[in-house]
Amino acid sequence: MTAANQKATLSFSDGSPSVDFPILKGTVGPDVIDIRKLYGSTGKFTFDPGFLSTASCQSSITYIDGDKGELLYRGYPIEQLATKCDFLETCYLLLNGELPNAPQKSDFVARVTQHTMVNEQMHFFLRGFRRDAHPMAVLTGLVGALSAFYPDSMNLNDPHQREISAIRLIAKLPTLVAMAYKYSIGQPFIYPNNDLSYTANFTRMMFATPCEDYKVNDVLVRALDRIFILHADHEQNASTSTVRLCASSGTNPFAAIAAGVACLWGPAHGGANEAALNMLYDIQAQGGVEKIGEFITKVKDKNSSVRLMGFGHRVYKNYDPRAKLMRETCHEVLVALGLENDPLFKLAMALEKIALEDDYFVQRKLYPNVDFYSGIVQKAVGIPVSLFTAIFALARTVGWIAQLNEMITDPEYKIGRPRQLFTGAATRDVPDISAR
Ligand code: CMC
Repeated sequence: MTAANQKATLSFSDGSPSVDFPILKGTVGPDVIDIRKLYGSTGKFTFDPGFLSTASCQSSITYIDGDKGELLYRGYPIEQLATKCDFLETCYLLLNGELPNAPQKSDFVARVTQHTMVNEQMHFFLRGFRRDAHPMAVLTGLVGALSAFYPDSMNLNDPHQREISAIRLIAKLPTLVAMAYKYSIGQPFIYPNNDLSYTANFTRMMFATPCEDYKVNDVLVRALDRIFILHADHEQNASTSTVRLCASSGTNPFAAIAAGVACLWGPAHGGANEAALNMLYDIQAQGGVEKIGEFITKVKDKNSSVRLMGFGHRVYKNYDPRAKLMRETCHEVLVALGLENDPLFKLAMALEKIALEDDYFVQRKLYPNVDFYSGIVQKAVGIPVSLFTAIFALARTVGWIAQLNEMITDPEYKIGRPRQLFTGAATRDVPDISAR
């Protein structure tokens, strides 16, 4: 970050002296007004619910240009990463700032692979959950519980412990997600097989049973690997900001990532792919393609609170670049699996077409986001709807870790402590109970 040769001047209508603030420049993107001294020099705070105008940190990991529909990890366009790299290379890039060369890649893959198994006690911990528990409830618990299993990698201030906890989290998330799934359907857990790639191993842990040999399906592996790459990081979104805020207190990495998992669960964030598929099921139950018009009317009715799930984004006011790539994968998977004529998928495609042409969506710049298609892809490859957000959490774990590490090593890092505009009662006396 560099200081621009400009200042922002804040003046007051009550005659208080005006105050100058430095303007800082990033590599790309809007300049920011550095208001850190605002309270000290004026006794006033800013008011910005939802952080619509606030940069909460400086970061060099991920850049989004919402108007252009551009997403860069460490400067590399997502389109190139999704077509030229695999997920573990992307993890290395996010964590280390540069793509690995061949020896660095094989070393990183070997390190992650050595940590795929979870402590056997985790099986018993998992068994405490109801079989019908939501996988995100289970995953939040399991990830938080890792801190009980790995007390040797809890200290955020120790770079070595941070590194080993990062590897453990990236390696174990697929195992935990697959275990949560197997538990929900009453099948035995499948241990990782370290001869397989990261994503092939995950598909095996998800879909193999001890009764039969499992043949890895390359279409499925490619599709999931792309889902992982596209979801790996997305700058200061709600769950990432949660992880940063949580870790800013100095808690351990497993607890901070568990907080991210919990935040991601919400339907306006990671839960949107699940919500999008459930929306499709609802429309189908009401009559399918013929009912799209009625559904869109409800979405546009301000009194209905119905939203078109999988559409719209806080930052992208253009086509989400991840959605373009996921759309491509979606078509590839549907064709490869012979599902092009499946009624649910036809419904999704018809809904997408109608929404893209409708004035309501066009005027508000509401385009499909990645979740609209990733739900369809996951459904097609056999992942149950309730597990979608857990897959997102698996992929986003690396982004959360990279952001957490960046924060901890930032010399300007402080515990996160937003302020408030208080609108409650001012000081008053507690009346005696007989007088209340
Ligand atoms: N369906 C219908 N109307 C919408 C939608 C939608 N999906 N999204 C936004 N709008 C309307 C909204 O009603 C408002 O209209 P008006 O100006 O007439 O009041 C206008 O568009 C602006 O909406 P907003 O709520 O101010 O926009 P936001 O930036 O705060 O919301 C969002 C972003 C993602 C929460 C929202 O678009 C939404 O709820 N989408 C559906 C859920 C979804 O797909 N979420 C996944 C986001 S991508 C995954 C990720 O990166 O985490």
